[in-house]
Amino acid sequence: MSVFILAIESSCDDTSASIIQDGRVLSNIVSVQTAHAEYGGVVPELASREHQIHIVPVVDAALKKAGISVSDLSAVAFTRGPGLLGSLIVGVTFAKTLALSLNIPLIEVHHMHAHVLAHFAEKPYPEYPFLCLTVSGGHTQIIKLDSYNEMEILGQTVDDAAGEAFDKTGKMLGLDYPAGPEIDKLAKQGIAKYEFPIADMDNYDFSFSGLKTSILYFLRKKLKEDPNFIENELVNICRSVQDTIIETLIRKLIKASEETKIINIAIAGGVSANSGLRDRFNEEAKARSWNAFIPDFEFCRDNAAMIGITAYFKYLDKDFCDQGVTAEARLPF
Ligand code: KG4
Ligand code: ZN
Repeated sequence: MSVFILAIESSCDDTSASIIQDGRVLSNIVSVQTAHAEYGGVVPELASREHQIHIVPVVDAALKKAGISVSDLSAVAFTRGPGLLGSLIVGVTFAKTLALSLNIPLIEVHHMHAHVLAHFAEKPYPEYPFLCLTVSGGHTQIIKLDSYNEMEILGQTVDDAAGEAFDKTGKMLGLDYPAGPEIDKLAKQGIAKYEFPIADMDNYDFSFSGLKTSILYFLRKKLKEDPNFIENELVNICRSVQDTIIETLIRKLIKASEETKIINIAIAGGVSANSGLRDRFNEEAKARSWNAFIPDFEFCRDNAAMIGITAYFKYLDKDFCDQGVTAEARLPF
């Protein structure tokens, strides 16, 4: 008999539900919240309220698309953390209530583990051990995986995440939040004519706060000379900043691959949708004979399919949780 898992993801500003049948994605519905754009960032209270509005229709749509009903479900999975507490609580409460009413197992999933395991949403699957660069709005990590539940953080950001570097740059340039996709689009038309610093630490950690400050001072200086500088040079500024962020990420990934001798390399998280990063990653992979893995965009950004895929591994190991489980904004890795 098939195992059907309903997975819920509500850690930040997108409400998502997915149905997984025996480790295969049947549906992956994402409702993107647009209420935050005018504030230039995610407003936690607004996000929780939007999750409350969207969760039932999103779950309903996921079931319909998969062609199953709640009575077919074998388990309910949810993101326990890390994320915004109010947002997480909506998903956690929904999942607990549904599992209780159906009397089926409940599976908690760590959001960052799920980003990495999103590579198992589609074939070809990476072989263990593999390294994964997870780059999102909240995290920047290089993870070493020996199995689905043996993961080690080799390095991570000590301040801003890569996605934040994109979003904060966008804010300085007057672009809408989240600015990553827009910077990606504009960068394609520009050239990297401006130089920004690349933080180079000895270990595998990242830092993006210095870049942010240097962009701020750079823009202040240039705007004094020419008040239309941003308008006139937007595509070139975007290209220069994007290339700097990509270089920072790729250098560490190369270092990690060389020192661990692992050549199965993956990237994940919302920023891995960046076309410049994808191109650069593929180039390096070719030059270094890496087996490279980039999930489809659908599985890169926040989505419930990655929660369901992770939950399926846990289901097979009977790794369930009980009704006492609570949302954890700072869930340890
Ligand atoms: O993984 P994600 O959907 O959410 C979490 O933060 O967990 O990542 C969102 C981040 C945002 O910072 C957004 O600006 C960035 O991913 N992003 C991009 C692109 N698409 C999304 N950054 C650069 N280029 C893109 N194409
Ligand atoms: Zn995420």
